[in-house]
Amino acid sequence: MHMRHSDEPHGPEIVPVRFILQDPRSLTGKDEAVIDLMAAKGESILELALENGINIEHACGGVVACSTCHIYVNKGMEHLPEADDAELDRVEEAPDLKINSRLSCQCIVEGDGPIEVEVPAWNRNAVKEVPH
Ligand code: FES
Repeated sequence: MHMRHSDEPHGPEIVPVRFILQDPRSLTGKDEAVIDLMAAKGESILELALENGINIEHACGGVVACSTCHIYVNKGMEHLPEADDAELDRVEEAPDLKINSRLSCQCIVEGDGPIEVEVPAWNRNAVKEVPH
């Protein structure tokens, strides 16, 4: 599905975001498990990932209608907006739910960072295997 991008122009890419990939090969085709990127404020973690070749699943295109874009925010949660009710309802459906689980399409970079997120290994299978 096509990724929905926000219409607002993004600012300069000044916010450091580290991605930790539990299964890098399935997401990028490479073996690097730690990828450091710079985000622009106003951009979602999902957008940043996709623009940089980290193919996080996003079955609904970023409209909070799935839980396939589930990530863990290890550091910097305070630089992201709080999850709203729609996100909380959805993320509860994700496998391996943790206290720091978020939907990456809803994680809009707001603060100065740094932010560290972790992409679970099962991400690539989430669409085909109904998690329960
Ligand atoms: Fe569906 Fe994020 S892509 S909720």
